[in-house]
Order: sequence, then structure tokens, then C-alpha cells
Amino acid sequence: MPKEKIITGIDIGSTKVATTIAAVSEERISVVGVSGNIPSKGINKGNVVDIDGVVEAISASIEKAERMAGVSVSKAFVTVNGSHIENLNSHGVVAVSPNNVDSEIAKDDVARVIEAAQAVSLPTTRDIIHVIPRDFIVNSQDGIKDPVGMSGIRLEVETNIIHGSSTAVKNIIRCVNQVDIDVEELVYTGIASGEAVLTDTEKELGALLVDIGGGTTSVIAFIDGSPVHSVVLPIGGKYITSDLAIGLRSRMEDAEKIKIRLGNEALISKSSVELRKDEDFDLTEFGLEIDAVPRNMLNKIIDARLEEIFRLLSLELTKANLAGKLPAGIILTGGAASTVGMEKCAKTNLKMPVRIGSPRGVTGLIDEIQGPDSASCVGAVLYGAKLYRGTDLLSMNARRGDMKKKMGGIFDKLRSFLP
Ligand SMILES: Nc1ncnc2c1ncn2[C@@H]1O[C@H](COP(=O)(O)OP(=O)(O)OP(=O)(O)O)[C@@H](O)[C@H]1O
Ligand SMILES: [Mg+2]
Repeated sequence: MPKEKIITGIDIGSTKVATTIAAVSEERISVVGVSGNIPSKGINKGNVVDIDGVVEAISASIEKAERMAGVSVSKAFVTVNGSHIENLNSHGVVAVSPNNVDSEIAKDDVARVIEAAQAVSLPTTRDIIHVIPRDFIVNSQDGIKDPVGMSGIRLEVETNIIHGSSTAVKNIIRCVNQVDIDVEELVYTGIASGEAVLTDTEKELGALLVDIGGGTTSVIAFIDGSPVHSVVLPIGGKYITSDLAIGLRSRMEDAEKIKIRLGNEALISKSSVELRKDEDFDLTEFGLEIDAVPRNMLNKIIDARLEEIFRLLSLELTKANLAGKLPAGIILTGGAASTVGMEKCAKTNLKMPVRIGSPRGVTGLIDEIQGPDSASCVGAVLYGAKLYRGTDLLSMNARRGDMKKKMGGIFDKLRSFLP
């Protein structure tokens, strides 16, 4: 790799827009600019509902990160989520090119077989976001991660295809384009957060990444190192806030502050939360009808909503035939992963190991991006870095020249997932 390359990730969430700019070399991914807390406007449950509002938030987030980094950003990897996201597993098969010496499988054969796997009948209202090769089969021998250089006549691939509503996808791209930034690739939030927090061992063993944001919960299951199922549930931390607001008869802003304070206390000391659960929570600063409320009551309101999230998740696991197949357990990311009682509630309801995932794999200005709410934004950069490191930059750019406004680059995507 010739030199450092600037890679930018933009996470457009329903609560906040975050940007991470990193200088990527073969040795390290060094964060040079961040902006993690620009309030989001115009996104509801992952969908753009007000283009101007979204553009304004993206613009503010990019500007802040650019100022810190001292660079001007022209393209970025951008996250996408929302309950329009769906996935399917697809099989592709091709004959290895007869021109190849000794029937040696070349990269072009691999690209062709991936393309063959894409020949699934998706309605025109759907756009493919990721085509991820999970397993290659050469002359009926399966379990092959990288077939390039092997000898064979028949090449097959099992892929996981993640797709979304064309309109939703186009609207996100349009918003980013309006601040004069090209979308290098869209990255499903689950894939991005997975890049940032999952270990290779967890992915191999079988793990579930659950990114709980403000309005959505993005889920992705990994088995044998690759994604096998993705779904986005239309539920998130905002529902916890509104439950608290109803319970306390407070404004949403106050309920949000109370929730965050409880979450932060738990982050500082889990044991103190346990010890203080019989105490009152002081409400005097909020000017409500009451001056204090038993902490137990707040915990009960929060737990009820968390239980609902985990009940939906559990149903989804059963529906996707994943129950019992994810021994590495659940890794929680997203801002709502910091909710008080989250880890305990997940363990009790799902009866699986649970941990909160914080982004790894980056150096530099990382103070602001160490929480689980930064996983998707940092993950978008890590995803971009993987593409950059896995390919020859010049040829990659040449191929990508016109792709800025549409999905594609399957060959590039494929290469990024090859070891
Ligand atoms: N310390 C905390 N304790 C409890 N909840 C928190 C804490 N910090 C953030 N949250 C909650 O996390 C949610 C926002 O998470 P995040 O920033 O991941 O959302 P987003 O990416 O904007 O939304 P989405 O992914 O749903 O589009 C909000 O509901 C917020 O109240
Ligand atoms: Mg999010």
C-alpha cells in the first residue's frame, strides 16, 4: 500500500449523526477527526422523513470532524438501517474458465460465481447492499474460504445478500450527495458495528450482534465467520424515554436526562446501582409534580421495555432457526446498550452470554468514540479500511469511478471479504 489514505465513516442515526475520519495505512487506522453528537433531524426508524433536516445534521457533523482533522472530505462510507433491511442466502455456480492454466481458479472466476449468486429474483423496489460470500465449494469440496489459486472445474458459492428498499437507500445517498460527498459504499449498521466490536472467534463460534439505537435495533447473526441473518426491529431507546415520560408525567427531554443519568451511573459502578436500588432518585431539578421517585420504580419501567425488545429478538431468533446456534452469545452496541440493567435483562431473557461491545482496532483521537454508541460509525471506517487494504487502490478507484450514486462494486466487496 503506497501511503496513508483518508477514510471517512458517517453514521446517520435516528438520534444522532456521527462522523469518524481516519488516516489508514497498512500498520494502523488512526482517527484524526470525530464528531459524535450532532442531534439527528429528519430520520425516523432509520428512514429519511425530512431531507433538509438530515442534510443539515450531516453537514454539521462533517464540518466539525473536518475541522478537527484538518482535511476536506469528498467521499465516505455511510451506514444504513431501518426495518426495510432484509436478507437472503443464495447459491451460485459456474464452470471455471477453460482458458485458465491447470484449471486454476482466478479472481475473475470468483467474481463470476458471486455474480451468479446474485441472480435472485428481487423486486425492482429492492437494492442490494451487501453480497457476502460465506463459503466456496470447489468440485464438491466445501468449507473453502478463498478458492483463488486452487485447481477446479466447478466453482460454487454460498452467499448472504443484504438488501433494502430502493427508495430508503436512494434517500440516504441523496442526503449525503447534497453535502457534496460521494457515497463510496453503504454499510448495513449491523455489518459496521460487527466490524468494530466482534472478535474473529465470536464470529467463528456463532454470535449475535445487536445494535440498539434510538429508533431501531439492528441485528446480525454470524456463524462460521460470516453473516447468516440480518433483521432490523423498529424499536430502540426512544421508547424507553417515552415510557419514563409517561410514568413520571414529565417532558421527554427530562425523561431522557433521567435515563442517561441512570445509565451513566451504571457505567461508572454496576455494584452501586445494585446497592442503591432501594433508594429514591432525586427529581427536584426537573420541576415535576413529585420531588423524588423510588429507583425501583424507574428500573421497573425500563425493564418492561427492555423485556419487550428481548422478546421480539427471541422470536426473531426462533423464526430464523438460530436458537441454540450462537454459543458466543450476544454483543450489544448502540447508545441504548448503556441503559441501566441492559446486560442483566438480556442475560435473563435470552439465556445467552451477553457483553457490551466497544469499538476496537483504531488508534489516535479515540476518547470520544469509546462507547457502544460509536460502534457503527467506527465500524464504517473499519469496513472501508478493509476494502482499501484488500485491494489495489488504483484499480479499485478506477472501477468505482461512476459508482458513487449506486450500489455495485461486487468484485470489490467480494475481495474485501477474502482473507
Ligand atoms: N448513557 C446512556 N444511558 C441510557 N441510554 C442511552 C445512553 N446514551 C445514549 N442512550 C440512548 O441511546 C439511544 C441513541 O443511540 P444511538 O446513538 O446508537 O442511536 P442512533 O444511531 O442515532 O439511532 P438508530 O440506530 O436507531 O437510527 C437514545 O435513545 C439514547 O437515549
Ligand atoms: Mg444507530
